[in-house]
Amino acid sequence: MGKKLIIANWKMNLSISEASLFIHRLAGFVERHNDVEIVLAPTALALQSVSLQTDRHQFKLAAQNFYWRDQGPYTGEISASQLRGLVQYALVGHSERRHVFNERDRDIKNKVQAAYRNGITPVLCVGETATDRALGEAGDVIHDQIIGGLNNITSGEAETLVIAYEPVWAVGTGNNAAPSEVAEVVKAIRRQVKHLFGAAVSKQVRVLYGGSVTLDNAQDYLDTEGIDGLLIGGTSLDAYAFAKLVNKAHEAKGNNS
Ligand code: PGA
Repeated sequence: MGKKLIIANWKMNLSISEASLFIHRLAGFVERHNDVEIVLAPTALALQSVSLQTDRHQFKLAAQNFYWRDQGPYTGEISASQLRGLVQYALVGHSERRHVFNERDRDIKNKVQAAYRNGITPVLCVGETATDRALGEAGDVIHDQIIGGLNNITSGEAETLVIAYEPVWAVGTGNNAAPSEVAEVVKAIRRQVKHLFGAAVSKQVRVLYGGSVTLDNAQDYLDTEGIDGLLIGGTSLDAYAFAKLVNKAHEAKGNNS
């Protein structure tokens, strides 16, 4: 059993100075556990300062977004090559990127490749909308997002991949998905990874759940077989609750290191 992976997605919250204060508090609350890896995804503006302020053994960093080309005339964009060395992970295809900024699978595929090219582990986010679900199309949608996003990567690259299952209807709504349903989707995701990259990779790929995770419901996901961790939005902005949630990951069933 690998480490649990807990990713905090701060989204477009906290200024540089607020992020600094927050990290200071968080570092005081969060206990260190060898079996839990904690990753913070602040605003891109704060990555540098947060990086200087944090101990990499306690917190790793993730980019919330980036553009897939390495450099050039792309006003306002940040590339994976500029993030190289600063972050260890990057979210790709978060539902807010897909649905607010119209990112398509081909953008997402290019970003996954750009992340690998620059030594950054992509966290590919997939998930169905409420409409997809009502139409009974959730499985197909997730299937297509995985195929679309993972086009052209090698099995060697896929071994380190993280996939976050985040039903769009659960993100930021307070309606978290039932752990039993998440378990089924996670199984389907692993089956698909097996089909694409083989059995060994399907066991190694880390699969997370995200969508209205709170201190009250986190344990149910963490104890579910096949779920390697959580992607957390709202709750990650409460330093005390987030630190408690990290402890829950340490106490999760099957964690014995
Ligand atoms: P939420 O966000 O925890 O606020 O639902 C999750 C996410 O967007 O990753």
